[in-house]
Amino acid sequence: MAAEDLIAPSILSADFAKLGEEVDNVIAAGADIVHFDVMDNHYVPNLTIGPLVCEALRKHGVTAPIDVHLMVKPVDRIVPDFAKAGATYITFHPEASEHIDRTLQVIHGEGCKAGLVFNPATPLSYLEYVMDKVDMVLIMSVNPGFGGQSFIPSALTKLRQAREMIDASGREIRLEIDGGVKADNIAEIKAAGADTFVSGSGIFNKGQDGDPNRYDSIIREMREALASVG
Ligand code: DX5
Ligand code: ZN
Repeated sequence: MAAEDLIAPSILSADFAKLGEEVDNVIAAGADIVHFDVMDNHYVPNLTIGPLVCEALRKHGVTAPIDVHLMVKPVDRIVPDFAKAGATYITFHPEASEHIDRTLQVIHGEGCKAGLVFNPATPLSYLEYVMDKVDMVLIMSVNPGFGGQSFIPSALTKLRQAREMIDASGREIRLEIDGGVKADNIAEIKAAGADTFVSGSGIFNKGQDGDPNRYDSIIREMREALASVG
């Protein structure tokens, strides 16, 4: 049976001055998990948020899964900090880790779910020998570093390939897509095999500022588009 579709708003496009409220509103609107983009101005040319902010969201009362997308190098040192801060998933880019298998073990050792992230030009072959150690495969449909970029169509081909590999493994592994996901392309992305949909600007740039229900209609629109795919 196909896994349930999960909508994962990327808080990179939220209003950081009222982040707790933004997360509360988007979850109340029906989103499933919080996508948390960590950038280090080294592995990617941008600097964002770290474990303190993750912990602050938990203290604020966020109970939804937090999906920490690490765009940092090195990876291993920061993993325990995010585990303590309340991360549910921790995903990383294979190019950013010297020892991919070890990093997956470190994440699991800290009690989190682990995932590998594939940039647009990174081959899926990194997965081959660690399929039994991943809980999530994240396909980037933009080059990491910024929100608001356009979806790169070759990600659809890669999603189909990743879907085949996941199904052949027989394991429960989420297939996530990240970058340029909007209500108007989410259906074809699901049709290519994704079951977890990150969207930053596609969600947070919608609705009337100050309206607590501002994300209801965009989440509903995405759900309807997803439901249209068999
Ligand atoms: C990019 C980040 C994404 C980003 C997506 O490096 O990993 O999660 O926030 O933003 P949109 O949905 O605007 O492309
Ligand atoms: Zn991301």
